[in-house]
This record gives sequence, structure tokens and C-alpha cells, in this order.
Amino acid sequence: MKIAIYGLGYVGSTAAACLASEGHSIIGVDISEKKVRDTNAGVSAIKEPGLDELLGAAVAAGLLRCVTDGADHVRDCDMAIVCVGTPSGADGSHNMGYIAEVSRQIAASVDQGRSRPLTVVYRSTIRPGTIEELIRPIYQMTLGEKAGVIELVYNPEFLREATAINDYFHPPKIVVGTHDAQPNARMDELHKNLDARVFCTNYRVSEITKFVDNTFHALKVGFANEIGRVCVQLGIDVATMHEIFISDTKLNISANYFRPGGAFGGSCLPKDVRALQYIAADVGAEARLVDALLRSNDAHKHFLFEQVTGSAKAGASVLMLGLAFKRYSDDLRESPKVDMARKLLNAGYTLSIYDPDIEPDHLVGQNLGYTFLHLPTLPHLLVSADHVAATRYDLVLDMSGMAKDLTLDCEQFFDLNALQ
Ligand SMILES: NC(=O)c1ccc[n+]([C@@H]2O[C@H](COP(=O)([O-])OP(=O)(O)OC[C@H]3O[C@@H](n4cnc5c(N)ncnc54)[C@H](O)[C@@H]3O)[C@@H](O)[C@H]2O)c1
Repeated sequence: MKIAIYGLGYVGSTAAACLASEGHSIIGVDISEKKVRDTNAGVSAIKEPGLDELLGAAVAAGLLRCVTDGADHVRDCDMAIVCVGTPSGADGSHNMGYIAEVSRQIAASVDQGRSRPLTVVYRSTIRPGTIEELIRPIYQMTLGEKAGVIELVYNPEFLREATAINDYFHPPKIVVGTHDAQPNARMDELHKNLDARVFCTNYRVSEITKFVDNTFHALKVGFANEIGRVCVQLGIDVATMHEIFISDTKLNISANYFRPGGAFGGSCLPKDVRALQYIAADVGAEARLVDALLRSNDAHKHFLFEQVTGSAKAGASVLMLGLAFKRYSDDLRESPKVDMARKLLNAGYTLSIYDPDIEPDHLVGQNLGYTFLHLPTLPHLLVSADHVAATRYDLVLDMSGMAKDLTLDCEQFFDLNALQ
């Protein structure tokens, strides 16, 4: 393909060199005269291992040429890839000025007689909604009825500086956002030599991907350092702690505990998080992320309550499926479902609860004490499967994945195990 790449920074120059090495013909566009001059001389404007060699080979083969103004070159391109910067603005949001300006330039360069599609691929990190609310309107405004020749794609970049070339050819995944969430033939062509799982999705999902990844990486580093600080202050060997932690690929370094859904609770997590908060403060380790966990969990409980009651009037009949902190247990201590039940009762809903593992007469010790304090009317709220089958409810909230085993009749159903 003939491809114009806008922005010859870390992302753009790596893409230019790697795509040229695969035989694509590349026009690099950057407003920096120095970057254009250096790249045309086969010298990378950025420091990246292996990039000089690839750029030099691409220039020598006549597959890479750089310019400061792409207007004359986009006309006969199949694709334009936008890799301009999206630095932080004064208020913390991304500054979208470069993205908007390049979009306007590309749109203005499209020949009015063009009927062949131009695929414009955005690789810069942009906030969800940017393609639909900023970029597409720029093409529509500039091109009017001709805007149909532009195929907009969002394709986030996952490379890491210092290993950029290897990451380019071996990405952890490929995400392609299109208007109909369907594959795009030119993107298939672009990625045909890459061995990675491809996700074709809509614009917004593709746009959020990079934020989720980067924030999670930051979270991991922050968490590791907080735990490291606590260990140092307590004289605990950090390397051994780390080795044991990462060896657990069943529960720790795994897909467990990642699905957005219910809040955490039970007899261990809140108690032990609280105690670690205490220990960290006690030894002067300042664990700000750990400090935020219980508040984050409380915010989530409230969010779920508002989600499910948003359209229901006080007095509506609500059936909760599950009350113990998890299914097949009768442990109610710090169960987020008890909080939901309490919020529903306080807000005036008529509440019934189905949980076959809970028999109020069998609750003992702390479990009984917790239940008595937080849900004193529990025996009157519990209903049987037969009662559920014979009753129509305004709302049913499945908190424990029990709905599939029951006959339900309701106006609205919420599966709180997975956010929708
Ligand atoms: N650096 C990384 O490791 C990395 C990885 C993945 C994603 N990203 C994202 O990719 C985007 C680019 O990152 P980067 O590190 O390559 O940025 P960068 O600042 O190194 O490069 C951006 C380039 O765009 C050029 N530019 C600005 N306006 C232009 C215009 N109108 N026309 C042509 N060129 C123009 C600049 O001169 C600059 O050379 C950002 O959104 C970033 O968040 C970066």
C-alpha cells in the first residue's frame, strides 16, 4: 500500500520504518523540519534501538520519503496513519489540537474527484468519543458529501519505547475500531504479518483500550511500590515477597477478579485491607492506593444501587437473588449484598431475598452478630424458590448468578455479576 504517516515521533517513525520493511511505500509527514531532514537521511530523530538501520534501509530502497506538508501526497495514498502527539492539557485532559489540525489537513488534501476510499487510521491515544465527536465532524465539515470516501479507523499502538520495533512486530494484541465494528480489508492487509489476536470492535471500545492498559500498568507499579515500602519498613525481604506473589498465576497474576461487576466483600478482603492500611500508616509507609480501596468499593456499591433503582419508584417490589458474600456460603459478614438490601429497605422498596444457603436459625457467632446489626428483619425477607416462581416482581437483582436456576417473572432484571 501507499501510506502517509503523520507525526514522526516514537510511534510514527517506528511505524514508518517497520511498514517500509514490509514493502509498503511510505510518505512521512511532520511539521518539524529537523525530523524530516534527519529521517530522509536515514537517521532516526529519536533514540530507539534498531531504528536507524531500518530507516536507512527504507530510504535506500526508495520506500520512505518525508515531507513537512503532506497535501500533495495524500491524493494517491490508500491509507493515512495519524501518530501525532496528544500531550496533557492544562486541565489534565488530552490536548487534541494536533489531532484536529492533522484531520483538517488530511480532509483538505482529499481530491474532490476521488472515489477510491482513503483509510485514515488514528494511532494516537485519544479519549473515547473522539472519532465520533471531533474527528468525523471535521471530515464531514471539510468534505461535505465527499466525506464518504474516508474510512475512519482507530487502531491503538501498544509498543514500548526501547523495544519498539520488536513490540511493533509482536504486539500483545491488535485492536481495530470501525464504524460498524467489522473488519476492514486494508487493516487486515496492514496486519497480515503480525501474529496477535485481533479484536474488531466499535470506536469507543477501541479508544478506551489504551487508557485501561496504561492506567493498569500505573496501578501495578504504584501497588508494588506501596507493598515494597511496607516490607522495607518491616524489615521484610522484598525480593522474596515479590517472587512468591508473582508465582501465583491462579489468583494473583491471572484473569481472576477483573470483570467489572459486584463489589468486593466477605470476612477477609475488607478486614485485611483495613488492617494493611493500619500497618502501613503505623510504620510510615503511606499506602495511598490501599487507603483508597474501601472508599472505591463503597462508591461502587452506591453506583450499583443507583443503577438498579434509577427507574423504580419507592414501594416497588424487589427480589434479590443471593445475600451471602458468595454463592454456596452462608457468610454474611461485610457482604456487599447486605449493603444493597439495607439501602433498598431504607429507600422504601418492598424487598424479598432468595438465598437457599441462608437459614437464619443456623447463623452463629460473628456472622449472626453482623446480620442482626445490619439486617435485623432478615427472617421476614427470605423467600423460597416456590414463592419466587409464583410472584411477579418489579425488579429482580441477580447478585450471585442464581437466576438461571429459577422461574422468574419480573418487569426489569439486573445481572449484577457483570456490568452492562
Ligand atoms: N511513545 C510511546 O511509547 C507511545 C506508545 C503508544 C501510543 N502512544 C501515543 O501515540 C501518540 C504519539 O506519541 P509519540 O510518543 O510518538 O509522540 P511524539 O511527540 O514523539 O511525536 C509526535 C509528532 O507529531 C508531530 N506533529 C505534530 N503536529 C503535526 C502535524 N500537524 N502534522 C504532522 N506532524 C505533526 C510532532 O512534530 C512530533 O514529531 C500519542 O498520542 C501517544 O500517547 C505513544
